[in-house]
Amino acid sequence: MSDTFKIRINGKPCEARTGETVVDVARREGVDIPTLCHDTRLEPAGACRVCLVEVEGQRRMQPGCAWHVQPDMVVTTESERIERHRSVLYGMYLADHKLDDGGLPVVTGNGNDLRRLAEQTPPLVLEPVDAPRRGRPMDANPYIAFDPELCILCARCTRYCDEVEAVNAITLAWRGSETTISTAGERGLLDTTCELCGGCIDTCPTGALIEKKSPLPLSAAAETVRSTCNFCGVGCQVDLHVDDGRVAKVSSPPVGETLNDGNLCVKGRFAYDFVHHEDRLTVPLIRGEDGELHEATWDEAIRRTAEGLLGVKQRHGADALGFVSSSRCTGEENYLMQKLSRAAFGTNNVHQCAAT
Ligand code: SF4
Ligand code: SF4
Ligand code: FES
Repeated sequence: MSDTFKIRINGKPCEARTGETVVDVARREGVDIPTLCHDTRLEPAGACRVCLVEVEGQRRMQPGCAWHVQPDMVVTTESERIERHRSVLYGMYLADHKLDDGGLPVVTGNGNDLRRLAEQTPPLVLEPVDAPRRGRPMDANPYIAFDPELCILCARCTRYCDEVEAVNAITLAWRGSETTISTAGERGLLDTTCELCGGCIDTCPTGALIEKKSPLPLSAAAETVRSTCNFCGVGCQVDLHVDDGRVAKVSSPPVGETLNDGNLCVKGRFAYDFVHHEDRLTVPLIRGEDGELHEATWDEAIRRTAEGLLGVKQRHGADALGFVSSSRCTGEENYLMQKLSRAAFGTNNVHQCAAT
């Protein structure tokens, strides 16, 4: 049986494949279905109900992010009924959400998709609800804060921590209006299995998980510069957010765009202070006759290094030398290092620190 078939979305014939959801096909066809709890790296949870669509033959609307397509399925993503549903749903979310003076969701440094959706479809105005949602006790970790008043309990963070990181440091805890995101025994993240990867921050659609180092939105003039993380040789891509000439934040490029697929480790995401650190070496230093380090040019530094290495070879033979490259080097740089060792100096004493 063919793996591809036709469905109709808003009257338009679309090609679909077995195993795809309505949202998968709609996005490929350029049809916008709003989502909040959806992340293509995670199993669908159908938790937020923002993506409900009409499916012919179904009495109830169905979640497009979790509803699998079938041959000849007829789907409607825009109708009066759907608009009414979205308006009521956003109104309910906003009733216990942290709002600004204009009655719209507050935006933290990680954005707030609920605000964007509420700007597209005006929410029904409901009485504010004082939900006794629990916060976590003060958390001493240096990177991640949690604001329960911005959390919509979509469980993207807990599912990411489980399904992508395989760490399970955080979970949905308590019941009813007290439901919140917590840890076992309400411990601080440093006392759990958390690796401080920060992936939960990135996947959170409402900015309820907040980068302590960069809690607020950057200025409108901030630029994004795509770069390669230099902490190891994997080659993860990073987006450097440069504000006023300084790296103010690092995030992963969007899911599906680069080999790290939206993920980073604790070093790649948070350890960027070295970029502007005052102790950082910016020019080569050579120790002089006086025993002190003095600034030098690259030509001087390379000549001095070559003289030193050749001197050891002349006095003690090539095997008195050893060459160790860093795990921060690229594959090409590691190749050149072993060429230098074997071809230029004549020794097989070459190693790379990540090989042990
Ligand atoms: S930082 Fe990473 S490991 Fe820690 S809770 Fe978040 S997703 Fe889980
Ligand atoms: S913290 Fe964010 S990702 Fe986690 S449940 Fe709340 S809104 Fe969803
Ligand atoms: S995006 Fe489909 S239910 Fe949340």
